Amino acid sequence: MMQKVIDRKFCVAPMMGYTTSYARTLYRILSKRTFLFSEMIATKTLIHSKEIGSKIANEFQNPIALQVGGSEYKDLRLSSRLAYELNYDEINLNVGCPSKAVQKGSFGACLMKDKLLVKNCLDAMQINRNIEVSIKCRIGLGKDFNYEFFEEFIDEILKSGIRLVYVHARNAILNGISPKGNRNIPPLNYDFVSKIKSKYQNTTFILNGGIDSMNKALKLSKLHDGIMVGRLIQSNPFCLKNVDRQFYNQKNNYIISEKTIKDYFNFIRPKFGKDSVYRLLSPLLNIFFGVPNSKEFKIEIHARMQENNFEILEKIFLNFIKEKKILIN
Ligand SMILES: Cc1cc2nc3c(=O)[nH]c(=O)nc-3n(C[C@H](O)[C@H](O)[C@H](O)COP(=O)(O)O)c2cc1C
Repeated sequence: MMQKVIDRKFCVAPMMGYTTSYARTLYRILSKRTFLFSEMIATKTLIHSKEIGSKIANEFQNPIALQVGGSEYKDLRLSSRLAYELNYDEINLNVGCPSKAVQKGSFGACLMKDKLLVKNCLDAMQINRNIEVSIKCRIGLGKDFNYEFFEEFIDEILKSGIRLVYVHARNAILNGISPKGNRNIPPLNYDFVSKIKSKYQNTTFILNGGIDSMNKALKLSKLHDGIMVGRLIQSNPFCLKNVDRQFYNQKNNYIISEKTIKDYFNFIRPKFGKDSVYRLLSPLLNIFFGVPNSKEFKIEIHARMQENNFEILEKIFLNFIKEKKILIN
């Protein structure tokens, strides 16, 4: 089989609790080309949990990566096999999460201390040519910038043969600040990403961190191989409607219409009763983001969510679109 060529010019970052399979479906309705990520799944959970099915389901969400956290070769290899069987395009190793729980499990950002282990993990994950292996890492550890440390880390991990690196372009501070603090407090340094790219021209480096507007995203995408956006999409997934035009030379923006709501409800309808109404609907709630006078819709939706009546909820969303279509698009 020919290897697929995928352009990762615009990626939605993995976000636990947010990039659920429901959210990913909404993202895919709005943009056919955006590269998507699952939430991070610990390899042990992936392999042993019976309830994992709905989390990792990949129903027409390609191009997409499954992100895993772990550092045991056997588990990582099995995870790659699962990702391949579930039709993911890529499996990504999380070497960026600073949380205490993750450190305890020996994965995430603390792995940056052991570049040889990371290289071996990436070796183990490469099971065949149809599932690309990648890493998401930081630029360093602790308070101070240290380009040499970053360069030596990349030198080592690229020996595995992988050619795809997502860089959250700030250090991780493993003690004393929370994961949330670790997304804001350590300063950004995009230069490290440009510099390493000039050393490894044939490796794709995707820039992540602090890209908080579509304008910034567009500008940075011209300077880097691609960009990855997290919190901007978390707060307003609907800006994905312009991505295919702005980043992939498609002629038109996606237009949000009644069909958007219907497509989304058609996807979640078979899941009614199997998952909470909040989880099923929360990706759609951001449609109110920045739309004037949407308060009454919001109040009604939240009140109706208690009743679990999806037909009524769909109608309220449809009415909202009818009334605000022009403002939203
Ligand atoms: C709620 C939330 C959950 C996150 N979960 C993950 C995760 O599971 N895996 C990961 O690699 N990064 C995770 N991150 C970090 C993001 O992927 C991204 O690196 C970070 O938010 C910086 O990008 P941004 O400035 O565009 O938000 C998470 C971030 C947020 C806000």
